[in-house]
Amino acid sequence: MGSKFVIRGGKKLSGKVRICGAKNSALKLMAAALLADGPTILTNVPLITDVMTMAAVIERLGASVSYETPDTVKINPGYSLYAEAPYELVSQMRASIIVLGPLLARLGRARVAMPGGCNIGSRKIDMHIRGLELLGARFEVGHGFIDATAEKLVGNKITLDFPSVGATENLLMAATCAEGTTIISNAAREPEIADLATFLNQMGAQIEGIGSSTLQVTGVKRLKGVEYKVIPDRIETGTFLVAGAITNGDVLLEDVVPEHLELVISKLIDIGADIKVDGNKIRLKGCRKIKPVDLATLPYPGFPTDLQTLFMALLSMADGTSIITENIFENRFMFVNELNRMGSDIRTEGRHAVIQGVPKLTGAPVKAPDLRGGAALVVAGLAAEGVTEVLDIYHIDRGYQNLEHKLQMLGADIERLGAEERSSNLRVIK
Ligand code: UD1
Repeated sequence: MGSKFVIRGGKKLSGKVRICGAKNSALKLMAAALLADGPTILTNVPLITDVMTMAAVIERLGASVSYETPDTVKINPGYSLYAEAPYELVSQMRASIIVLGPLLARLGRARVAMPGGCNIGSRKIDMHIRGLELLGARFEVGHGFIDATAEKLVGNKITLDFPSVGATENLLMAATCAEGTTIISNAAREPEIADLATFLNQMGAQIEGIGSSTLQVTGVKRLKGVEYKVIPDRIETGTFLVAGAITNGDVLLEDVVPEHLELVISKLIDIGADIKVDGNKIRLKGCRKIKPVDLATLPYPGFPTDLQTLFMALLSMADGTSIITENIFENRFMFVNELNRMGSDIRTEGRHAVIQGVPKLTGAPVKAPDLRGGAALVVAGLAAEGVTEVLDIYHIDRGYQNLEHKLQMLGADIERLGAEERSSNLRVIK
């Protein structure tokens, strides 16, 4: 049996917590390091299982990966890389598909296992493929693998059907080393993409329009290894803000970029929280009564889908009815059945959820169905009456570094129980 969190709810959180580097940036920067002709050093890398999986993927491709300190990773792609990312690793983390662009750029070929069914929806990769084809790659799909080849990549104009984060990133990386100019229109604008583009430019790439929906990339011949600090994780930040709000606590979050959370902060203020922003810190004071709000997830700068589950947990205790519309992933309501076992009153219909606030949640055994659904159940457990046991927390360990320790520091009564210690989840890389 895997480990679980046991939470005795009802403690108001208070105190300071330091936010880690962004998972969704670190993973892509690690893949981008494959493009360099020398070693890259990434700092502020979160110690989470997804990062360990990405380290395993790029080691399997022939790069060397070593930890200089717990949050500093050195990646040396060396001279010869292999083109194949195997199923046993890709199936652990769908984001492994992000090596497609760098491998095509470096080797002119890539063989990446088709990501298996993912529990938050079908998560197609047609836009990655169509965009890379426009840069000159040819694809064959069969026997569970995507095989891509390109004699050379040549810049082109690409308009994405939808601002997909992963497709924008794969195209950006492939285009940096293509011949001529690439223009990616309707590009995703998430802060993690701006981080990737800034990193690539430091390596020697020529990317303009960073932060906008039109990225212009002038191909260069080589990229060099650099030292770079990963941006703070806006989703971890949002998770702790919600944990503070749902317990009517008083939390100070340090090392954050408040501009990355504008809409999230304004929704928390609508809900009744008192929020003060001071440089790279955010302080949240909760309120006794949670006001209902409606929200709809959208590509950045819209409301982030990764925080939808956390807000659902918070709004489940609101004084009235809220409506949440999930526009990005069709299966991000999977945790609702579990939350309802804790006494919430939530009905879902397609992409909409109607949340009738209840005065209290009651602790129960629940299962984390995925990363952010699991985090939402933990946060609900902090506010629930009695004991909540969250099972299958390997999902949560994929994206949160020391979640229980950070919550304990804020005064939460939460412990990890079970056969596996967390450290055994985290492969130690020498
Ligand atoms: C990334 C993030 C994830 C976040 C999401 C949206 C990482 C590792 N993950 O995921 O945490 O929730 O952005 O902000 O960075 N789609 C297609 N065809 C494609 C590509 C995507 O139909 O070729 C669809 C997906 O099925 C999904 C939607 O577009 O419904 C958004 O996907 P995308 O923006 O690509 O998200 P990811 O990069 O997978």
